[in-house]
Amino acid sequence: MNVHDSQQMAQILSDAGYVKTDEAGRADIIIVNTCSVRGKAAQKAYSQLGRLRKLKKKKPGLVIGVAGCLAQEHGTEFFKRAPYLDLVLGTHNIHRFPEMIEEINNTKSRVVDTSFHESVRSLGIRTLPPDGDVSAYVTIMQGCNNFCSYCIVPYVRGREESRTSGDIIDEIRFLADNGISEVTLLGQNVNSYGSTLSGDADFPALLRMVSKINGINRIRFTTSHPKDLSGGLADCFADLDNLCEHIHLPVQAGSNHVLKRMKRGYTAEEYLKKIDMLKSRCPDISITSDIIVGFPGEKDSDFQKTIDLMKEVRFDNTFSFKYSDRRGTASEKYDGKIEEEVKRARLCELQALQESHSLEKNRSLEEVVKDVLIEGVSKNNDADITGRTRDNKIVNIAGDIGLTGKTVKARITRAYTHSLRGEMI
Ligand code: 5AD
Ligand code: SF4
Repeated sequence: MNVHDSQQMAQILSDAGYVKTDEAGRADIIIVNTCSVRGKAAQKAYSQLGRLRKLKKKKPGLVIGVAGCLAQEHGTEFFKRAPYLDLVLGTHNIHRFPEMIEEINNTKSRVVDTSFHESVRSLGIRTLPPDGDVSAYVTIMQGCNNFCSYCIVPYVRGREESRTSGDIIDEIRFLADNGISEVTLLGQNVNSYGSTLSGDADFPALLRMVSKINGINRIRFTTSHPKDLSGGLADCFADLDNLCEHIHLPVQAGSNHVLKRMKRGYTAEEYLKKIDMLKSRCPDISITSDIIVGFPGEKDSDFQKTIDLMKEVRFDNTFSFKYSDRRGTASEKYDGKIEEEVKRARLCELQALQESHSLEKNRSLEEVVKDVLIEGVSKNNDADITGRTRDNKIVNIAGDIGLTGKTVKARITRAYTHSLRGEMI
């Protein structure tokens, strides 16, 4: 989501006549787009800003701004922490970028806007991804009404708001006309898409509309909330040829006691039933998840239930995190905070288990022929090209960069934990 927000900011600035540079030393404006969902992400943003202070000393006219969730959370407080900042831009105000920069240049004073609006103007900004990308993000909704007890998102992104299906379809047609063949539909909880619109499509209906757009060969979406995952969505996996066989379905924990305190709205048993439903409609579906360890009050026996659930589902991959207190959330005030050392040990155990599951899944693909959408040259070896299977596995293949954007057939020759090696056929 943040990558797409950054692309939108770049689009707004380039529409206003600014030109992109990869060299920080040449820039007149530098914006750090931040995430505050976990303590570590926030820490990263602060160190990035610290590095920019030196540039500002060398070039006093440089405008330095901070945008995104951390900017929304801290507002003017940011100026105390980083006095060299010129701009603090909240999550609902990206569209005001050019006028705010003009204000800074004209008045030589600092500017901040963290106001919330009922309707987020930047939702409708059409953004083409950087040149050469074959895949684009499309925001279908923003904000969140769920208020999971650990999560800061509803506070920094505001209430849920869906875009109309007409707007979304128009944008995807525009992307397809510009050579994009894969779209990822974005929202904090795409399964509740449409609940703020009257009489428009729900999420399965939206997927069915998107699947009819000429030129769109692959559709992905993220993120799904298990409590709102319907049979109608599971049917889409069986019915729509261009819907990729992958779902990211964050479970967060395997213990009902913890899930209840997290205010997730489902039990482990209900989650497992939804997994069964998905697998019954789409037997080869790849399932990934997010898991938090060390939530306040999580006992060893609770953690064991997360491990048991992982052994039952056998996720293709998981993103796992140590719980961190976020300001203003309900769980910040919960008792039973877990010691860092215990969180670290739990995370280590969980990640080792996941690595064995990921490798096991990838090994089952050896000798299988897969369609791979080539994304470009491999990060690890210039002689290789890299792409993704429909079930979202990275495949490295010896091949020509000219194949970028094309879908090739590759036989999987070797499985690793986080990627596959393939041979073009
Ligand atoms: N501590 C740790 N992990 C968190 N996440 C969200 N809030 C927190 C927190 N306070 C994780 C969840 C979510 C992912 C985006 O970040 O697993 O799905
Ligand atoms: Fe946060 Fe829960 Fe909303 Fe996801 S569904 S963004 S975890 S509050």
